[in-house]
Amino acid sequence: MLFSKEDSLVEIWQVVKHELHRGALDVKHPFHWVNLGTISGDFPSVRTVVMRRVSEELHFFVYTDYRSKKCSDLKVNPNATLHFYHPKKQVQIRVKTKAKLHFQDELAENLCKTIPAHRGSEYTGAKAPGTPISNSLEGWNQGDLENHFFTVLELEPFEIDVLQLRKEGHLRVLFAKDKDWEGTWLVP
Ligand SMILES: Cc1cc2nc3c(=O)[nH]c(=O)nc-3n(C[C@H](O)[C@H](O)[C@H](O)COP(=O)(O)O)c2cc1C
Repeated sequence: MLFSKEDSLVEIWQVVKHELHRGALDVKHPFHWVNLGTISGDFPSVRTVVMRRVSEELHFFVYTDYRSKKCSDLKVNPNATLHFYHPKKQVQIRVKTKAKLHFQDELAENLCKTIPAHRGSEYTGAKAPGTPISNSLEGWNQGDLENHFFTVLELEPFEIDVLQLRKEGHLRVLFAKDKDWEGTWLVP
């Protein structure tokens, strides 16, 4: 369990933030992977991504290819939701965010230099992610990081909905930026 009904809203906010930070730092933590939802025409679009960094002010950072569908979605509508689940602690965290795309700017260029050469092909494919190909080998190239589509998504949160499952009754709290992250108990 991440928190109990005896904890104050301030204590719960602290443990939620701590756990989100741990997720980015620890590759074995379930919050190291997150489901990222974007608005894609008539359908929500959801995919798993790696949580690379959570900053002090709780901005979330994800790496991707500028030509991917998630980037085209976010260019039209920057609203994005992050969905985390911790199976052992039985906690779900849903974060409503506004996304900023860093492509060919200082942040993206500096972080791109930290990508190991063998991972470079993830951001340098000759064809855009999702392009139909005639066989499984066609989509790969050598990965020339000089000529890349490496993009950093910076996701700024404005609402965080936390659900703690418990045998004795679930607990749910909403934290909102416009209330200075003060929590509100919700019916689970
Ligand atoms: C465990 C896991 C981690 C992934 N991490 C990333 C990632 O960090 N960035 C990324 O762009 N795609 C990542 N992917 C691939 C995406 O889920 C998705 O298939 C791809 O980015 C294309 O998505 P889109 O067409 O919706 O943009 C990951 C997939 C899995 C299964």
